[in-house]
Amino acid sequence: MSSMPEPNPLLRDLVRTKSVEQSIADTTEPEHTLRRSLSALDLTVFGVGVIIGTGIFVLTGTAAKNHAGPAVALSFAAAGVVCALAALCYAELASTVPVAGSAYIFAYSTIGELPAWIIGWDLVLELALGAAVVAVGWSGYVQSLLDSAGVSLPHALTGADTGGWSFNLLATLLVLVLTGVIVAGMHLSAEITRVIVAIKVTVVLIVIVAGLFFVKSDNYSPFIPPAVTVEGKSGGQSPLIQAMFGYTPTDFGVMGIFTAAAVVFFAFIGFDVVATAAEETRNPQRDVPRGILGSLLICTLLYMAVSVVVTGMQKYTELSSDAPLSDAFKAVGQDAFADIINVGAVAGLTSVTMILLLGQSRVFFAMSRDGLLPRTFSAVHPRFKTPSKAILMLGLVVAVLAGLIPLEELSELVNIGTLFAFIVVSIGVVILRRTRPDLPRSFRCPWVPVVPILSVLASLWLMINLPVETWWRFLIWMVIGMVVYFLYGRGHSRVGRAERAGRAPRGQA
Ligand code: ALA
Repeated sequence: MSSMPEPNPLLRDLVRTKSVEQSIADTTEPEHTLRRSLSALDLTVFGVGVIIGTGIFVLTGTAAKNHAGPAVALSFAAAGVVCALAALCYAELASTVPVAGSAYIFAYSTIGELPAWIIGWDLVLELALGAAVVAVGWSGYVQSLLDSAGVSLPHALTGADTGGWSFNLLATLLVLVLTGVIVAGMHLSAEITRVIVAIKVTVVLIVIVAGLFFVKSDNYSPFIPPAVTVEGKSGGQSPLIQAMFGYTPTDFGVMGIFTAAAVVFFAFIGFDVVATAAEETRNPQRDVPRGILGSLLICTLLYMAVSVVVTGMQKYTELSSDAPLSDAFKAVGQDAFADIINVGAVAGLTSVTMILLLGQSRVFFAMSRDGLLPRTFSAVHPRFKTPSKAILMLGLVVAVLAGLIPLEELSELVNIGTLFAFIVVSIGVVILRRTRPDLPRSFRCPWVPVVPILSVLASLWLMINLPVETWWRFLIWMVIGMVVYFLYGRGHSRVGRAERAGRAPRGQA
């Protein structure tokens, strides 16, 4: 009798999947079990804690001034819609596979081991690099507060990239302190996040309510300034879409709203990090979708309100690019409000850095538990019940990165890394509906496959608007990841080992 040909062993290894049941069973392994303490409210607070940061406090100015004018509120809405499409997909997978690791574990359960590794490696760009970039932004804000209090750091400790080598002392210190907090336990991290979120949401509400008194309707005219064709950028700076198809992006006009959406997308990064806390949630199937969608909705509404108010307070052409919210208050003679906003920004960026770092440690934890990274990183501290070795290793790497490397140019890598994860997660929803229709899904993404397909297309659109050099950096990072997988992960994978043991002749397993 003829039998089906055996698939190529290499190919078979790369697309082997980990069953959802196995992923869930792993969460109860002694020594690799995290403490379940979080509620839906905690997760929503976590989401808001990691979402509101540089995006609204800094990027609103550039996006309105250079790309969209007062219509920047619509750019926030557009970026919010892109994220909402992805968030619906994250919510479904998180309710089906409630395991630390987020997009990494979703890919492992649906597409296969190599894609899962790739997405885990890619998440380093969103989470670890994101934490370093935001820590550097935090340090800039603290230095300007110190400057206004008459205290200045020596140039060698400011991290400034002009006037010779300089080490960013404050950014490094922030990462090291937050590393300690995260090691000490989810409970402490959640408490600190709650306080910080209360401060930053209050500050954002102050901007909205107090700012309303200074809005002048003239500043909204024209609401959508006339379109301007952008001088084509050259070389690596040009967006991929321009380099490939000759399409020249437009500033202002209707298309300018979308150009600005790609800029303010950074403001939404983080809602997906909620999924990494699934294993520390008391009722993850119900509460992780609530946390993801709730935090995204709250932040989108706040962002739109802030941008409407700020562009009404000051003509968009005059908004500042560094600190648009506080400078808009200074422009109307309200310096006291400006100081309050700067304090809110510092608090805000603190929790963003902390939760990105925390999310990264949970992804590493999940990858290590699966054997794709050394197993030591998934050992849980006996007292704190946190993956302390993973956190310490990551904290040190991020602290060094934040201290030594000028990161502004790398911030677009954070965007591309996040968008790539959105695409994989959206595809994962469609695959898992087909391969495992039987699994209980306490949250179901509506209109599958339409919503996941729209999510892929919307994320791809934002990705091809990123510069060519960002794509090169992204590809180089991915190639390094592939090398690491073939040198280490493929041979150490627990799923692979179990398969080999099952296939080995009796006595060799
Ligand atoms: N969304 C986060 C911020 O804007 C990353 O800082």
